[in-house]
Amino acid sequence: MVIGLGCDHRGFRLKEALRKHLAEREASVHDFGTNSEQPVDYPIIALRLAVAVSRCEAARGILVCGTGLGMAIAANKVPGIQAATVHDVHTARLARERNDAHIIAIGADVVKNEENAVRIVAAFLDARFQGGPSVAKIARIAAIEHRFRGGRSTGGHPWTRP
Ligand code: RB5
Repeated sequence: MVIGLGCDHRGFRLKEALRKHLAEREASVHDFGTNSEQPVDYPIIALRLAVAVSRCEAARGILVCGTGLGMAIAANKVPGIQAATVHDVHTARLARERNDAHIIAIGADVVKNEENAVRIVAAFLDARFQGGPSVAKIARIAAIEHRFRGGRSTGGHPWTRP
């Protein structure tokens, strides 16, 4: 499974730590940058990663910025993408199990320590979409997108659709 990883300057240190963790999991990582603490506008990175996920070039995405908010908002503008801001293991797991999120966005300033971020990422990657009553709700989200953007109305990412 290819995992996309991206950050802005505020998420850079945490992104580097997560890259090492993903290597230990023997995950195949595609790093979308940024690669320093030089300021970069987070939508640029979020767009690159979200487009790759929407094209199935990466199965999951992990974005890191200061709050996890801007990255998720930007990624969700790409048709077919479901990105969620998560700051703990519980929401990371449910983002996958219930919301069929392909991408999570973590706030480096919120999560603070590396160990916590590693646990959050592991919870997301180890979880599976549970289907059931969530399927109809996700189909409704896709229908909203279809109505306003002319995007797909297929009910989620093709790799994870039940
Ligand atoms: C810095 O650009 C900051 O706004 C960003 O890291 C993030 O917190 C946005 O939501």
